[in-house]
Amino acid sequence: MRKPFIAGNWKMNMTHMEAAIFMQDFHYDMKNKNGCEICICPPFTALRGIKNIIDSDKIDVAIGAQNMHWEKSGAFTGEISPEMLEALKVDYVIIGHSERRQYFAETNETVNKKVRAAFAHNLKPVMCIGEDIDIRQSGKAEEFVLSQLAACLDGLEEKSVTGLTVAYEPIWAIGTGKTATSKDAEDMCAAIRKKISSIYGPDIAEAVRIQYGGSVKPSNITELMNMPDIDGALVGGASIKVDDFLAIINY
Ligand code: PGA
Repeated sequence: MRKPFIAGNWKMNMTHMEAAIFMQDFHYDMKNKNGCEICICPPFTALRGIKNIIDSDKIDVAIGAQNMHWEKSGAFTGEISPEMLEALKVDYVIIGHSERRQYFAETNETVNKKVRAAFAHNLKPVMCIGEDIDIRQSGKAEEFVLSQLAACLDGLEEKSVTGLTVAYEPIWAIGTGKTATSKDAEDMCAAIRKKISSIYGPDIAEAVRIQYGGSVKPSNITELMNMPDIDGALVGGASIKVDDFLAIINY
């Protein structure tokens, strides 16, 4: 049985002070009736502050970064390394979000390097893949997403892949208010699992968690979570509103 996994991707929102207020409000009202694993991915500047609140108040929430470099240290001005995140005891790291691919020239090759670096530093990657609207309309979405998946996993060992989360995020659904239908989302997540099975075998494919992301909100989460191959959600906009994020967790 895969534990449902709901992660909030705050993107470039909230100062470290706003983040602390969010955590207090969130904790005050926190319920988790489905026993989900919950993860909050704030900007780098808020990681330490949130981690301290989680630890001191013993809040059952994991913490994740939104990106990182693959090298452990070096002359990479402005970058954050896996070693730094490991030292902060960050649990997860989002890798290859479509906004990183679109605005910061990330490719399947850099995603692959980062996923490997994450595992080497005890960080669990949430690896994002997904097609844009042109690819969806051309009818080649599945082919495209599965080739992204294979390229991003290239050379990854079986024992690592069990700890992987894949986030299927159709780009046309991100921040647009348009969600994929639960059937389209399920079909793609099932295809992703089948592909993982063809590379690593059925046991690993059964263990890997697959999230859907793209305009997830309180009104559509239940339907998505009822799908057999959707194990959770990567939530953007709705994750920075305490009430919405709590409603999503308690779908
Ligand atoms: P959204 O973002 O929920 O605001 O569509 C999802 C994401 O980018 O991970």
